[in-house]
Amino acid sequence: MTPQINSDVLVIGSGAAGLTLALKLADTLSVNLVSKGILFEGSSLYAQGGIAAVFNSGDSFESHLNDTVKAGAGLCDEEIVRYCVEKAPDAIRWLTDQGVKFTPQNNSNPEQGYHLTKEGGHSHRRVVHAADATGKAVETSLVAQVRQNNNISVYENHLAIDLITSSKLGYGKNRCFGAYIFDKKNRSVNVFAAKFVILATGGASKVYLYTSNPDTSTGDGIAMARRAGCRIANMEFNQFHPTCLYHPDAGSYLMTEAIRGEGGKLLLPDGSSFMHKFDKRAELAPRDIVARAIDHEMKRLGSDYVYLDISHKPSHFIETHFPNVLAKCLEFGYDLCKQPIPVVPAAHYTCGGILTDRNAVTDIPGLYAVGETACTQLHGANRMASNSLLECVVFAMSATQHIIANSANIKPPPVLPAWDESQVTNSDEEVVVSHNWDELRRFMWDYVGIVRTNKRLQRAKRRVDLLQHEIEEYYGNFHVNNDLIELRNLALVADLIIQSAMQRRESRGLHYTLDYPQLDSSSKALPTILIPPSAIDTTELSNKPLSKQ
Ligand code: FAD
Ligand code: SIN
Repeated sequence: MTPQINSDVLVIGSGAAGLTLALKLADTLSVNLVSKGILFEGSSLYAQGGIAAVFNSGDSFESHLNDTVKAGAGLCDEEIVRYCVEKAPDAIRWLTDQGVKFTPQNNSNPEQGYHLTKEGGHSHRRVVHAADATGKAVETSLVAQVRQNNNISVYENHLAIDLITSSKLGYGKNRCFGAYIFDKKNRSVNVFAAKFVILATGGASKVYLYTSNPDTSTGDGIAMARRAGCRIANMEFNQFHPTCLYHPDAGSYLMTEAIRGEGGKLLLPDGSSFMHKFDKRAELAPRDIVARAIDHEMKRLGSDYVYLDISHKPSHFIETHFPNVLAKCLEFGYDLCKQPIPVVPAAHYTCGGILTDRNAVTDIPGLYAVGETACTQLHGANRMASNSLLECVVFAMSATQHIIANSANIKPPPVLPAWDESQVTNSDEEVVVSHNWDELRRFMWDYVGIVRTNKRLQRAKRRVDLLQHEIEEYYGNFHVNNDLIELRNLALVADLIIQSAMQRRESRGLHYTLDYPQLDSSSKALPTILIPPSAIDTTELSNKPLSKQ
């Protein structure tokens, strides 16, 4: 058996959040960086549009704040938004220092600053980008830096199963001590111990049948934190991106919102435009409005898709701004320069997550959460485009400062118990796991999607209860493997989404229900906060401030 693997900090996840954390922390502390796939894999790699930050002279922090708050439909924490938008230019400069090559305003004179594009909800051009593959540029540079940093030990193909906390071990005052991590190659479970543990595990959009996200987005961090006793907030606000390529083999490939930012139009099958009927910002309304409008038109017409068209722009413009999207569409027989492209909405972003404060602190001392897995309340009821990568970097920086300031006072964790496999055997029915995956993702799409009703949510709740029961039985009896661990997490996250959606008796932002189609303006809008049954002291948690500065 591998002995306990120790470090000052354990970072779980290697997207924009995890890599930024590892690099910033490694200046002072030893870091173990664990990722369930190769370092590159995760949503960050696929980010297209860019990262929002105020660089334009006509723009202002106030305007970035106002746009974010407006898109968030009354649920953003304005202190958090202000903090984030004010730190945005520094975040971009730090990424540039790490070697990220953002598209310059002027190719022959990069000193003139970044080219800024536009996306839905933004009232100015403020999206810094690397053509249409911003995430790849970020991941490539940060991974290269991590690989040459001697203070960071990298563990790829290592999947975190559960957190180890003093309360679970009966050691008194609660603290996170580490995590059980499944080594996928050796099929063994190791104990990773650290003074500080950070969940940077990304979102949960794989809970839906159709998603723009990679396979890694199974909500593992949210599920682990919930099981360990953290509050989870705003899970009903799952964002559906309006425009993913409609093709049976395209796997919901994203057609970046920057296409609409640069003049792309949404069209019905007969070629007519429709977005102006839904919002005066038309194609550049926030995503909740655009996705719902497309869903409405598709259902009204019985159509499988609508069209996204930017073919009126010169080919040279499309080739330089959207080279990757152009190439991907050509693979499927569509020419972005010459014709409208069929598109549909797909699950894209988890606005809710582990409730954290400005320093990424969670309810459990020693445990932090950063990036899409966290709910800082920056996004409220609907995230504005390109505020997500920004959130990853800004809150990775604030978490680093908090950890370094507290590190000297924290003792290393004790020797922790090894993973106990004495009661389990090899499964003889692995097909059950894949069937449950399919069933879960389909009923979430059908009943908990863009348009909800009480009846659909109740149906989904009955199914998820049954599935969770079956999965726990399976989990208790058989050796763990990748699919089982992820399925267990997905089912819990689905349950949290359904519970949150049932609690919200209004339509707000991304949560739209036919039973309460209006926004409730009779009282102050509140986030949905789920307190776990396992919380040590639920009274203490429910009284805790939402945003502790
Ligand atoms: P991720 O990048 O998803 O990384 C999560 C990491 O955690 C991965 O390394 C994963 O392997 C690892 N992990 C997960 N679970 C475990 C576990 N149990 N054990 C070990 N490791 C684990 N946002 C923008 O701001 N601008 C954009 O232009 C943009 N475009 C997008 C385009 C696409 C196609 C997609 C899918 C998203 C886009 N987003 C964009 C959203 C943004 O990319 C994500 O919200 C952001 O990258 C999340 O970063 P993260 O570090 O939190 O998570
Ligand atoms: C996109 O490029 O459309 C995605 C941007 C985002 O999700 O922020």
